[in-house]
Amino acid sequence: MKITLKNATETRALGKKIAARLRPGMVVSLEGPLGAGKTTLLQGIAQGLGIRQTMTSPTFILFRVLPVKGRSIKWLVHGDAYRIKRPAEMIEAGLHDYLNDPETVTIIEWGDQIKKVLKRPVRIKLSPTKEGDNRIVMLPAVLT
Ligand SMILES: Nc1ncnc2c1ncn2[C@@H]1O[C@H](COP(=O)(O)OP(=O)(O)O)[C@@H](O)[C@H]1O
Ligand SMILES: [Mg+2]
Repeated sequence: MKITLKNATETRALGKKIAARLRPGMVVSLEGPLGAGKTTLLQGIAQGLGIRQTMTSPTFILFRVLPVKGRSIKWLVHGDAYRIKRPAEMIEAGLHDYLNDPETVTIIEWGDQIKKVLKRPVRIKLSPTKEGDNRIVMLPAVLT
């Protein structure tokens, strides 16, 4: 499904809805150029999962792990593959265990950069548009 998001608030609101569709064990790849809104969407997802912490892109680490309370999902892993040189770096940093954990949801910005590592991820594609803050998001059926 193709959706137009008019501003960051709408993107966060969509993230909240997506959170309700996530199932434990899911691996999600957030794709689109810098500034497309991947982190903004993730912020909405985290909020929807009841995480209060402000979510920013992991800068000095490849991914971070946040506890989720009161759901079948116990952990949210938020990664960013933008800076990595070899997909295996993510595995070496320990992502493998989370990818295989049935109680974890793993969400990786720039997941398309580590295709070898993420097996059959749910892919969300964000695109900027010519009209200012508008973004187009392609949402797969499992998340609608
Ligand atoms: N419709 C929109 N959706 C998401 N972000 C938007 C939108 N309109 C403007 N923005 C702004 O664009 C920037 C997107 O940044 P970010 O979410 O960090 O992108 P990415 O993680 O894809 O690089 C933010 O500053 C956000 O406020
Ligand atoms: Mg980002």
